[in-house]
This record gives sequence, C-alpha cells and structure tokens, in this order.
Amino acid sequence: MLLLRRCCSLTRCGPISTRRLKVAPAVTSCAARFCSSGSEDQSSYQCANWKHILAGLLAGTGAVLVYSQHRHKAERADVSVTITEKGSLLPVFSQDEVTKHRSLEDGVWVTYKGGVYDITEFVAMHPGGNKILLAAGGALEPFWALYAVHDQEHVLEILSEYKVGELCEEDLKKQQASKPSDPFSSDPERHPVLQVNTLKPFNAEPPPEILSDSYITPSAFFFKRNHLPVPQLDQASYRLQVEGLPQGVLSLSLEDLKTKFPKHTVTVTLQCAGNRRGDMNKVKPVKGLNWGVAAIGNAKWSGARLRDVLLAAGFEPGVAQWARHVQFEGLDKDVTGTSYGASIPLNKAIGEEGDVLLAYEMNGEDIPRDHGYPVRVVVPGVVGARNVKWLGKIVVSAEESSSHWQQQDYKGFAPGTDWNQVDFESAPAIQELPVQSAITVPADGAVIHHSDETLTVAGYAWSGGGREVIRVDVSLDGGKTWQVAQLRSGDKGQAPEPSPPPGRAWAWKLWEITAPLPPEAEELEIICKAVDSSYNVQPDTVPPIWNLRGLLSNAWHRVTVRLRRD
Ligand code: MTE
Repeated sequence: MLLLRRCCSLTRCGPISTRRLKVAPAVTSCAARFCSSGSEDQSSYQCANWKHILAGLLAGTGAVLVYSQHRHKAERADVSVTITEKGSLLPVFSQDEVTKHRSLEDGVWVTYKGGVYDITEFVAMHPGGNKILLAAGGALEPFWALYAVHDQEHVLEILSEYKVGELCEEDLKKQQASKPSDPFSSDPERHPVLQVNTLKPFNAEPPPEILSDSYITPSAFFFKRNHLPVPQLDQASYRLQVEGLPQGVLSLSLEDLKTKFPKHTVTVTLQCAGNRRGDMNKVKPVKGLNWGVAAIGNAKWSGARLRDVLLAAGFEPGVAQWARHVQFEGLDKDVTGTSYGASIPLNKAIGEEGDVLLAYEMNGEDIPRDHGYPVRVVVPGVVGARNVKWLGKIVVSAEESSSHWQQQDYKGFAPGTDWNQVDFESAPAIQELPVQSAITVPADGAVIHHSDETLTVAGYAWSGGGREVIRVDVSLDGGKTWQVAQLRSGDKGQAPEPSPPPGRAWAWKLWEITAPLPPEAEELEIICKAVDSSYNVQPDTVPPIWNLRGLLSNAWHRVTVRLRRD
C-alpha cells in the first residue's frame, strides 16, 4: 500500500477527467484515505495502474525527483490516489497540502471543482499572472465568480493540463459549504434586448440595427462593459479624492462637483477596444469577449471639466515639469480589494481642448449604475477602457496607472506575436482609437426580396483623437465599385448637431445609402469603410491587423445578403 501511495508521485497527469475508485474500507478523514483494489469493471484501470507502479519501482527515486522538481510536488507518504479514465494515478491532497504552494518558489497550486492544479508554469505566461497568484494555495471559484470570462471550455481545457491531483472529499465539502455569496447579486436590471456576452460580470451589446436607429444611443441600449460587480454607491456619502498636487488632497462630494464647477455637456462616442473582436476570432481565435459591431455608443455626457477640477485642486504650470499622467481609480473592487484603474496623458486631461469630463449625467439623467453612477470620467476620442466608471480617485502622477488594465491588457501587438512571446511592457497602452465604421443594416445573412428594387444600407462611423469622419464608402459588390454614403450628425428630420471645431470631433456619424439592387445578383457582399480628417482609412482585411487579444479590430466591415425573387 505504501508503495502504491509513493508511486502516485510518478504520475504525470494529463488533460483528463478523473474517476475515483470506490475504496474499501470506507474512509473517514483526508489523512487516512488510501486507494485499494476496486470492483470488476475497474480491472483494466488496475492493470494500467500496476504497470505504472512497476515502472515506478524500476525508474526509482531519480524519476520521482525529476518529476517532483518539474511539478513542484513533494513526494508524500500519506498521499492517496484516484484513478483517471486513462488509467493514470492521481494523488489526493488535503487543503493544508495545497495551501503550502503559494509562491513561484514552492509552486503555485490551486483547486477547482475538487481538482488540484499546479499552475506554476502557467502563471508566468498569463497576462494576469500576478492576479492568479492571489488565488495560490486556495480555490479558484471565488476569483472566477468575479472574472466569469474564465468559465469557458477552452480555459477549462488549459487548466486541465495542469491537473496534479484531487482535493480530498472532506476538504472539498468544507469548500462547498463556505461558498461565497454572489458578488453580482446587487447588479442592476438590464434591458432584455441586450445581447449578453457574459452575465457576471455583465457585458452586453445591443442588436446592431438598434444602434443606427438614433443618433444618441438610449442609455438602456448603450453597450455595457464591466470587469467587476457594479458597486452600490450612495450619492450622499460619495467622495472623489484628487491627489498628487502640491496643495494636498482635495475631497469633493457630488454636490461640490455639481455646484462648484460649471456644467458642460459634450456628445461623445465610447468604443470598447474589443469592438468587432468577432471578426478577428473568425481569422484565428483570440482571447477576450466575442464582441460584435455594437460595443460602441454615442451619448450626451454632462459634468464638470476635469481641467477645472485639477486647477481647483492646485494644478499650476510647474506640475507639468514632473507630471505626465492622470490616473483614475474606480470604486468597483475585486475580492482582494483591488479597483479597476486606468490613466491618460496629462496634456489630454488638462488641455482646454481635451474636453475631459467628470460626468454625472448621461443623456440628461443621472448616470445609470451600469455606466458609472454617480460619477465617471469621459475621455473623448480615447478608448473606452480609460473612461473609468464609479470614479473614486484621481491622481496626478509621473507614472501611468499601475492597474492590470493599463499595464497588462488593452495593448496592441503584431499578428505574429503569440502568448509565449508577448511582452506587455513592450507596447504602449491604447489611448486614441483608429478610424472605424460598421454596417448595422442589413444584418449579415439577411434575405432581401428582389421586388424591393432598392436596398438601404446603414451604419455608423467614428474615429479616435477628435478626427472627424469625412466620408464613408460603400460597396455592394465585394469592393469592385464604391458609392459615397450620406453622413448625418443627428436624427432624421432633426437639426444636426453643430459642426465640431477641428480636432474635437468626439461623436460618431450615422450614414446611409439607398442603391438599386443589381438585377442578376443572387448574393451581395456589402462593404463599408470610413475615411477620417487625417485621411486615415480602415485596412481592407483582418489578417494584417490580427492580434492575440483581438483589439483594434477595424478592417472594412463586410456583410453578405441573399437576394430572393418572388
Ligand atoms: N471603469 C470601471 N471602474 N470598471 C470597468 O470595468 N470598464 C471599462 C470602462 N471603464 C470599466 C470602467 C471599459 S473596458 C469600457 S469599454 C468602458 O468602461 C465601457 O463603458 P460602458 O459600460 O459605460 O459602456
């Protein structure tokens, strides 16, 4: 029996589901659990096990050492085993044993649904490596309850490669009994029309055709991109801290923001860096939420100017000698108390033409909880990720935000860079986004009746950095011929918004074209591409801009429709 238990250490565990042998006699505690022969139907497993045992005995201590060095697994006399469907042995560990592996030196072990995983090698390669260390020695479940994006088949597959054993039943029961309460239970209600990408955290976009219905996106239909649970904040106790300026810390209530600073209203389009990631996924799988074309929206934001608040907090020209960035910290927190955070360049924050707002209204009402109630920063022309919601702190600093989302995410890489090579320090954080456009009507795969004779194609177009969209070209024949679409900065039949000053075009344009249907065609490949005021155009295909995180996806947008004659 002792030999059998010792030989557990020789087993290299693979991507497999496991099956415990029914053991006899019945066990009472983790420390006392042993494997023994099972019933008839397990004979083939037992045979395989005995081969392993023999191999183990022949291979001797050297192999044990090699394996234990590689997997950071101590050989233990009191470890029992389970038998996998592939016939290999898996040791059973107690929680105490797992807890000993909480560092790169001792190995990083975690448990998940009763399995024990040695993820030491994985930690170094993963973009959130430091974050995973927070779970070291314990259960992954409370973390994955927060980062539900992990709860996907391919992630579980990757995890299974690192499986080294099973958690003993007694400790598993204890874990299950102390199940954490759902951190998302107080999230707000959402409109049922939203197409949900993940529920926890909530990430959703509207159906594309709704997007081009109105120039100002109704808040209920505005895409929602949350990394963490929506915090419950009370406007009476809400405080915004402004730090890093020579005058010391300035603490502002919501009332202060509303009454001590002029109110400004700016129409600003927000776009997630992952908008249209779905197109990249079609070329080669990328990591991230599979957004369609609607992780973008256009709203009227009202609030105090960040510039005014920084000046009130003591900003003077001398600060620009040492400060380079303005950091923002949200009040949404993960299980360790770490907040969402991001930063923008100082000149964008303080510049008169930056139009950065500390917004407390969206579309004329208090900002809805999903969008940052009571205060969020709105950074026109800049990627959604820097528009920090539930804003708790502003720090003027020589450094960028040290947040995971500034340092280890939301950066662009070359098509050839893979997860083994990627060095997040080598690329700048995304700020201004490139020129973008997409078709919202008709939908990809739609069937058009030929009796209609004409086809109306509609969509949106926008560019980052305040560059105005000056033209949208549309093709109905896969790019052979092009027509120029009509642009509008307002709803049909309404007065358009006034033209923005050069370099401050923060809002999208909606566009539309009605063209005769080609008489003989049975299928149309419709394409749109936008041109901005710097004559930047969208790239024609995805592969040259593909990147492992699926960010900055702005190739020509294409939909295919079928024509039916009846
Ligand atoms: N701010 C906080 N505090 N927490 C977040 O998860 N998500 C960011 C940004 N600000 C986020 C945040 C990202 S990635 C995007 S794209 C936008 O908020 C989305 O804003 P929205 O949900 O209002 O559309």
